[in-house]
Amino acid sequence: MSAVLLQLNQVGVHFGALKAVDQVSFDLHAGERVAILGPNGAGKTTLFNAITGMTIATTGDIRFSAKSITKASPNHRAELGIARTFQITNLFFGLSVEDNLLLAIRGLRRSKFSFWRSNQPNTNEESIIESALSRCHLDQQRHTLVKDISYGEQRQLELAMSLTSSPRVLLLDEPAAGLSPAERVVMAQVIQALPRELALILIEHDIELALGLVDRVICMYQGSILVEGKPDEIRGNQQVQEIYLGKPRHARSH
Ligand SMILES: Nc1ncnc2c1ncn2[C@@H]1O[C@H](COP(=O)(O)OP(=O)(O)OP(=O)(O)O)[C@@H](O)[C@H]1O
Ligand SMILES: [Mg+2]
Repeated sequence: MSAVLLQLNQVGVHFGALKAVDQVSFDLHAGERVAILGPNGAGKTTLFNAITGMTIATTGDIRFSAKSITKASPNHRAELGIARTFQITNLFFGLSVEDNLLLAIRGLRRSKFSFWRSNQPNTNEESIIESALSRCHLDQQRHTLVKDISYGEQRQLELAMSLTSSPRVLLLDEPAAGLSPAERVVMAQVIQALPRELALILIEHDIELALGLVDRVICMYQGSILVEGKPDEIRGNQQVQEIYLGKPRHARSH
């Protein structure tokens, strides 16, 4: 098996008395694809925040390529090759698809936006943009304003933006949330066709979609890992069924 890329050892994120993430340990190998399942409030997004540095883990250790990044800044982690997409859409709606990609490549955030003047991508940026557009099925939308593309295409654009930094691991937080059945199919195809050397961690409430895309599944419940296994093992797992499968989203109280 390939080398361990990302290693979590007893990671906890506590908000006061609430252990949103509690003693989570797992290894992600280079190129491996893992789904994180679990009901609302299980701690999935908080775990992503601890990995990307938006939240600093309260306990435990996170390693990337064997070096501890537990307290590293989000920027440093991004430079090392950790990228993510967000559960909530996070785009510049008044700019074109291409300009959103250019902003992502140049690392410009909302706070610096007022200083940014639209200009042409250079040759290197051009090839990054073309590759990201093609991987995410957005070639036709390149010059369209983001507000005028469909919601599904906006989610594809977020994925495209996360690819511009050539990450080694990509964290996808509910990439298919809110999509129509047809848009879900496109998103699944895009994820499926991502480069095999790119490791993925996918949070997804659509279990069949998730299980079809990954090598391994981690099921979280109340901050901890409840069950871990291959997609087929998870499908038939009684514990997973009880806490999650077959229950409509938002039906649980927590
Ligand atoms: N900044 C915060 N301060 C306090 N509590 C928080 C904070 N962020 C998350 N929580 C709590 O931590 C728990 C885990 O939240 P999290 O968003 O990680 O769940 P999730 O598994 O991503 O859920 P969902 O499927 O609804 O997105 C929840 O009880 C949530 O209310
Ligand atoms: Mg979440």
